[in-house]
Amino acid sequence: MKKVAIITGASSGFGFLSTIELAKEQFQVIATMRDLSKKERLLTVLTQLGLQESVKFQSLDVTSEQSLQEFTTFLPTLGQIDVLVNNAGFALGGFAEEVSIHEYKKQFDTNFFGLIAVTQAVLPFMRKQRVGKIINISSISGHIGFPGLSPYVSSKFALEGYSESLRLEVKPFGIEVALIEPGSYKTNIWSSGKQIAKNSLDPHSPYRPMMIKIEDQLELGQNQYGDPQEVAELVKNIACKKPGETKLRYPIGKGVRVGLLLKKLLPWKLWERVVMKKLT
Ligand SMILES: NC(=O)c1ccc[n+]([C@@H]2O[C@H](COP(=O)([O-])OP(=O)(O)OC[C@H]3O[C@@H](n4cnc5c(N)ncnc54)[C@H](OP(=O)(O)O)[C@@H]3O)[C@@H](O)[C@H]2O)c1
Repeated sequence: MKKVAIITGASSGFGFLSTIELAKEQFQVIATMRDLSKKERLLTVLTQLGLQESVKFQSLDVTSEQSLQEFTTFLPTLGQIDVLVNNAGFALGGFAEEVSIHEYKKQFDTNFFGLIAVTQAVLPFMRKQRVGKIINISSISGHIGFPGLSPYVSSKFALEGYSESLRLEVKPFGIEVALIEPGSYKTNIWSSGKQIAKNSLDPHSPYRPMMIKIEDQLELGQNQYGDPQEVAELVKNIACKKPGETKLRYPIGKGVRVGLLLKKLLPWKLWERVVMKKLT
């Protein structure tokens, strides 16, 4: 019997590419997306590769109770669940003073609470099987607090803490939890998936000068963004690891390991000076 992998947010980016990689590795993939009309692009690629039978599409908006309920009802039809890739997410930018609580909550609803809800739906199956892998797509933003990005950063910091606790809780049941921590990659998250808090778009915002500097830095860095295929291959590699061989953290991307090391080693004062020099 084929192993079964579920992916959230399969309509684009890492989720899209990971679906293809896992299908190539003989997984039966459940590609979930909140808008099933977006499945055509993925289906076309899968058909070209002769992999269309290896992927089933399932509607799932991780923030919708009704959608989560339908997903929960669908799960027993799978027989087994070997891998869950919690990938769905978006990035909300804005300055902490100006981001409304409602906007913070929306960010957390998708990147954090949505992920928890999907995990809770899947865990009983993995626990009964006494085997399973949960791969959570975190970010370098789960370790480093970039200015102008506190909603996203705090949602990913929360995910890091949650995943550490979860890993220790489910290990006795043979379930492994891993975090992938990418740097910047060329996906929709920095275009259609990126949102800015309403008040931070106001040209009279006191944070406007910093916003302009941040945008300049992002613009400069864009040609350095990685190929998302790298992350999809990492998802596949982790999914294919033998039980007991999965680490907790997988940082990936240009400059990510160096960034994490510097943040760990440098005194905060020095770190802060480097960041502020670029932004003020
Ligand atoms: N790209 C990067 O540089 C980068 C770096 C670090 C971490 N990440 C993380 O990687 C993950 C995937 O992002 P990506 O870069 O591949 O961006 P992406 O191309 O924008 O993909 C995001 C996916 O999440 C889906 N999604 C958003 N809200 C959802 C919801 N409520 N329910 C279900 N699906 C939802 C989107 O669906 P729609 O098509 O319907 O919008 C889309 O399929 C995210 O968790 C992100 O934080 C990305």
